Amino acid sequence: MEPDLAAPAIRLIAIGAAMFAFGSLLFAELTKTDAPPPRAAIAISLAASILAALIWAAEVAGPLMSLQRVAHVLSVTLIGKAWLFHVGAAAALAACALRWPRRRRLLSALAALSLSSFAPIGHAAASDGAAQVIRILIQAIHLLGAGFWLGALPLLVRRLAAGAPAAEHAASVFSRYATVAVFALVAAGLANLFFLTGGRPLAPGSEYARTLFVKLAVVIGAITLAGLNRFWFSPQGMHRRVGALACVEILLLLLAAMLGVKLAMSAPWR
Ligand code: HEM
Repeated sequence: MEPDLAAPAIRLIAIGAAMFAFGSLLFAELTKTDAPPPRAAIAISLAASILAALIWAAEVAGPLMSLQRVAHVLSVTLIGKAWLFHVGAAAALAACALRWPRRRRLLSALAALSLSSFAPIGHAAASDGAAQVIRILIQAIHLLGAGFWLGALPLLVRRLAAGAPAAEHAASVFSRYATVAVFALVAAGLANLFFLTGGRPLAPGSEYARTLFVKLAVVIGAITLAGLNRFWFSPQGMHRRVGALACVEILLLLLAAMLGVKLAMSAPWR
């Protein structure tokens, strides 16, 4: 893999697995489903986060890289400390999932911390004072909203395959909470964009603008499928059709997350 592709790919794996862990744990708690915690996703997110933190620190440490310099970069810089905090949250989630697999509330809270602690490791940190705190909070809301929507869908698909009444209960809980999540994530995504560009229009034809427009088209596609499921197929009890469209929705949301990581790792003015 090209070195400049490795960092975004590993960040995407870490964020994607953290979104799945958060969404599925919270959805299991909301529907009172006795599913085991998603240990594979939790372990993948932790491993990818450690790797991503090391890649970042090695890049900052430069050509004279040594173990000491990497440790220094991680412990002294703001972003380095944010990486250490995030890896700590992901490790706490992994340890608690092994020790207390049935404590879904605790695990959901730790999964929320692990996912939202990606927020200070990106553009949101590139300001000072109150603006920095607000931007980090906005990005955390974006990640949590996206995490619930994407992470709960696979569990919903499994419940739909089980047939009524489990399917009906899961579908009604999902549509209630996912609506809030989608509104929050879209509002936070737009606010994020406003902060990044200072309200100025993006340079037409720039890579950032192109990526953003593709991402918006993908999100509109996913919202359309979600709307069809909620207002057309679910009321008719067509659980198989709802499950099939939800699978396509998962693919579109994975693509949106991939484009999000691309945006987070590139400059809006280019
Ligand atoms: C109208 C809808 C949306 C808008 C306007 C939007 C906007 C953005 C922007 C501007 C960023 C870059 C933030 C930065 O550079 O710091 C971003 C990042 C991101 N977005 Fe979205 N987004 C939307 C929907 C979604 C959806 C549906 C998902 C996935 C389900 C998603 C997942 C992500 C992820 C994973 C990141 C990267 C975070 C990181 O690497 O730290 N977004 N989004």
